[in-house]
Amino acid sequence: MRDRIIKLLSEIDNLKANNPEEYEALRIKYLSKKGVISSLMSEFRDVPSEQKKEIGQKLNHLKTAFQERISELKKELESSSVQTTDFDLSRTSYPIPLGTRHPISLVKEEICDIFNRLGFSIADGPEIEDDWHVFSSLNFAEDHPARDMQDTFFIQSNPEIVLRTHTSSVQTRVMETTQPPIRITCPGRVFRNEDISARAHCLFHQVEGLYIDKDVSFVDLKQALLYFTKEFFGSETQIRLRPSYFPFTEPSAEMDISCQICGGDGCNICKHTGWVEIMGCGMVDPAVLDNCGIDSKIYSGYAFGMGVERIAMLKYQINDIRLFFENDVNFLHQFQSAF
Ligand code: DAH
Repeated sequence: MRDRIIKLLSEIDNLKANNPEEYEALRIKYLSKKGVISSLMSEFRDVPSEQKKEIGQKLNHLKTAFQERISELKKELESSSVQTTDFDLSRTSYPIPLGTRHPISLVKEEICDIFNRLGFSIADGPEIEDDWHVFSSLNFAEDHPARDMQDTFFIQSNPEIVLRTHTSSVQTRVMETTQPPIRITCPGRVFRNEDISARAHCLFHQVEGLYIDKDVSFVDLKQALLYFTKEFFGSETQIRLRPSYFPFTEPSAEMDISCQICGGDGCNICKHTGWVEIMGCGMVDPAVLDNCGIDSKIYSGYAFGMGVERIAMLKYQINDIRLFFENDVNFLHQFQSAF
């Protein structure tokens, strides 16, 4: 046994493992339960007792030497595998590519910021609304044909609940709980049961505006909208108000801006009129004020509402509304970075 131990000790330095398989084979050969060292340990029982001390010490030495050598091999293997994959663990990491703000968010915030400079603060309301806030409070009488103006998504089990078709519903919510002066913009998502095309979508965004106080007149409305237009589209831009109809405003108007593309000379975008429609507006109908608990004999106000996608399409000259909803990063990365 003594000779076998000496022979094994001489082999130790020559042990090599070039890969995990070879390492595992060595470990099993020498250190496993049925390995070389274990079988020597079992044979140790038969060593004559006068040699037991000397052989026992040698055997222990052999065992420790193998354990150390084999764990050394493991470390060598681990460090060489790190080198072959070419990692430099001390190197600083690559920056995570930053995203960009969605153009709809940019435009929505710019609209609200401009009105904020006129003292308007932001108000919010639910996207799933009741009939009262979306229609009835705003003068859309039961069975009134005006309800047909907007194709509505109703909740099947309860037709009193709808996906809001406009953010004018937030006006009602604010007027019900706040006495004038009220000066708010209401940005948010709206839903209409419309076929999706380059010009229309079943989901889009609006910013509604509402100003209620004593002695508010149409002149104030026109001035606020002119200020907004010049701030947003540039100081050269002209506005034009055309009479229109909305159940919740009287009188009502639609506002056009001079075409951004041709400067008013006439092109495809403005259908050769020189003007592009961007929002509806008007003086809040006194019946709406009374519906919401505001005394129409004391107060008056104006309201307006615009589609954010439409404004963004004009600003960035985008010809298909569907691009806003596709989340194609090549499209989205063209807009101003967030950070
Ligand atoms: N709610 C209207 C729509 O979705 C837009 C609108 C028009 C809002 C006139 C107003 C307004 O506040 O006065 O088409």
